[in-house]
Amino acid sequence: MRVLFLGGAGMIGSAAVVEAVRRGMDITVVTRGEPRRRLAPGVSALRADVRDAAALAGVLGGEEFDAVVNWVGFTPDDVRDHPALFTGSAGQYVFVSTCSVYARPVSQLPITESSPRSQPDFPYARDKIACELLLEEAYRSHGFPLTIVRPFHTYDRTVIPVLAGWTAIDRMRRGKPVVVHGDGTSLWSLTHSSDVARALVPLLGNAHALGESINLVSGDVLSWDQIHLALAVAAGVRRPVFKHAASEELGKQLPGWRDVLEHDFRHSMLFDTTKLRRLVPGFAPQVPFSEGIREALAHFDAHPQLQAVDAALDLVMDRWSGWG
Ligand SMILES: NC(=O)c1ccc[n+]([C@@H]2O[C@H](COP(=O)([O-])OP(=O)(O)OC[C@H]3O[C@@H](n4cnc5c(N)ncnc54)[C@H](OP(=O)(O)O)[C@@H]3O)[C@@H](O)[C@H]2O)c1
Repeated sequence: MRVLFLGGAGMIGSAAVVEAVRRGMDITVVTRGEPRRRLAPGVSALRADVRDAAALAGVLGGEEFDAVVNWVGFTPDDVRDHPALFTGSAGQYVFVSTCSVYARPVSQLPITESSPRSQPDFPYARDKIACELLLEEAYRSHGFPLTIVRPFHTYDRTVIPVLAGWTAIDRMRRGKPVVVHGDGTSLWSLTHSSDVARALVPLLGNAHALGESINLVSGDVLSWDQIHLALAVAAGVRRPVFKHAASEELGKQLPGWRDVLEHDFRHSMLFDTTKLRRLVPGFAPQVPFSEGIREALAHFDAHPQLQAVDAALDLVMDRWSGWG
């Protein structure tokens, strides 16, 4: 299998490279600069801005691939030229979208791939839907070999996957309350990047995946309080204090959080993984959150330069929780 990754040196892409190489695939990665993460030995590297179709076509030089995975399509302009570029030269084109495309409030749980997509007020998700629609039209009108994959909230050792990031850990360790949105009971799903890779790579070259969209999620379900408790355990904090605040009120205090709380995080998100398991027989996530977050804490503790405390957020949390 010859596989081309467009922008595949980021968090999820680099995990997929490792998994693809493990499965014996021949991988080429296109990045616009020095790859942020070192590429595995044997992986070929090309340099181009993948949103510039002419530059991309130039570096590809007419080469053909069994599968192309686009990790960096965020607006229709990013992918508009891809049907023309890859129809005929790629056996499959995988567009990496997101489960944030599903309408909120969610009409029915669990969410399946045929749940309605609608996010008119959340630019990230709205634009991903527009990309999906453009590419689906190419699939329907002239057989562009499309597969859409939708990861949900994904993390690895380089990320503390809550909105407050390291600030939450710092506050816990100093005995300060951490503000959790809602009343901490809405349900969420987190997937380690290596499990997204285990789900995605077997879809490459899989004829049954053509024309399909597939949620790439672990199926793990945690409340936001459970997520914060797992952070505390990993950080060695025995008695963390959580204060709860309505997402609406938090969004007023923290404008940067407003969209993501309103259109994403405040909603319970549970996924049906039947389609993924049918297309990838034997798929089983291997990294429970409790384990993945321990790995992240160890990484952050070993790299003090990553331990960035957001002073403005810290102050808002102090005020909100009546601290000091
Ligand atoms: N992370 C999540 O929780 C999550 C959830 C659902 C869906 N997704 C989707 O998954 C995809 C990958 O996410 P990620 O978190 O792995 O991203 P990431 O860590 O930001 O990685 C993106 C990679 O693509 C490169 N890149 C960006 N723009 C490029 C361009 N124009 N030309 C060439 N290379 C470019 C980046 O390199 P530079 O160093 O040059 O920027 C980086 O290596 C995205 O489409 C995202 O929407 C992510």
